[in-house]
Amino acid sequence: MKLPVSWRASATAAVAAATLLTSGSIAGAASKADVEAAAAPDIPVANVKAHLTQLQSIATANGGNRAHGRPGYKASLDYVKAKLDAAGYTTAIQQFTSSGRTGYNLIADWPGGDTNQVVMAGSHLDSVSSGPGINDNGSGSAAVLETALAVSRAGYQPTKHLRFAWWGAEELGLVGSRYYVNNLSSANRAKISGYLNFDMIGSPNPGYFVYDDDPAIEKTFKDYYAGLGVATEIETEGDGRSDHAPFKSAGVPVGGLFTGASRTKTAAQAAKWGGTSGQSFDRCYHSSCDTTSNINDTALNRNSDAVAHAVWELSE
Ligand code: TRP
Ligand code: ZN
Repeated sequence: MKLPVSWRASATAAVAAATLLTSGSIAGAASKADVEAAAAPDIPVANVKAHLTQLQSIATANGGNRAHGRPGYKASLDYVKAKLDAAGYTTAIQQFTSSGRTGYNLIADWPGGDTNQVVMAGSHLDSVSSGPGINDNGSGSAAVLETALAVSRAGYQPTKHLRFAWWGAEELGLVGSRYYVNNLSSANRAKISGYLNFDMIGSPNPGYFVYDDDPAIEKTFKDYYAGLGVATEIETEGDGRSDHAPFKSAGVPVGGLFTGASRTKTAAQAAKWGGTSGQSFDRCYHSSCDTTSNINDTALNRNSDAVAHAVWELSE
């Protein structure tokens, strides 16, 4: 669904330049883009859901999961990679070993932009072995994939360079993302202006949580939600529990979105967001019932649009 973009006028070149001087923030130098920003397109939630249907089919055909070291993981990676290759991305598979099994990260670069200023968006593509992992984390994986495809459809040529990533073995302890960060040279690490993480963004009893990390990234998400008239809260269900943590440890500005895992929705949260108080945000967290039925379409739609909004806004 397309929403008003009147909030965009609030970004000023002066603020961006000041932030650049005073911190390691993602906010870049002023450019003509600050006054003539190209708005992010609407991300069709039907397309995002179609990716989830495919990931569900992959799990069903491979013993019910898409876990590290299992055939459903590699099949998931091949599915995402084929879409990106067809859309004009330069893709690379990064292989690693964890618990005696081969794991894979998928990295997709969009040709163009200043490679000294890289904006990354990523999500973990592996599930736990106990289920298909459609909310955790088909949701983030599908939204990032559809945003990457939208970049291609729009022929978007931002000032900065765009890189998308799908991580392996997050469920074994952030293994794939840590491997990626550890294997970057310090020069290449310094070129990453920001890393945006999307892990569980379609929870069935959703909350709207924004990571409290890089201020410019956080503001980008909060402004997006303010434009929708939807309240957000700071993510507190375990900072450091997803793939932004290795980037943050390496000094890269990070941010992200989350709709909640096993924690219980309070009455106050149900009053502002709807849903059911006294119940987990995701009752199927790490369970066999984390299927395509375990998705709130409104949350998935809003967050998919928020992913695209942030990717566009932070790379222009
Ligand atoms: N990363 C966790 C998983 O995959 C889920 C999770 C728990 C999470 N707390 C979080 C994700 C906070 C992002 C932010 O199981
Ligand atoms: Zn998980």
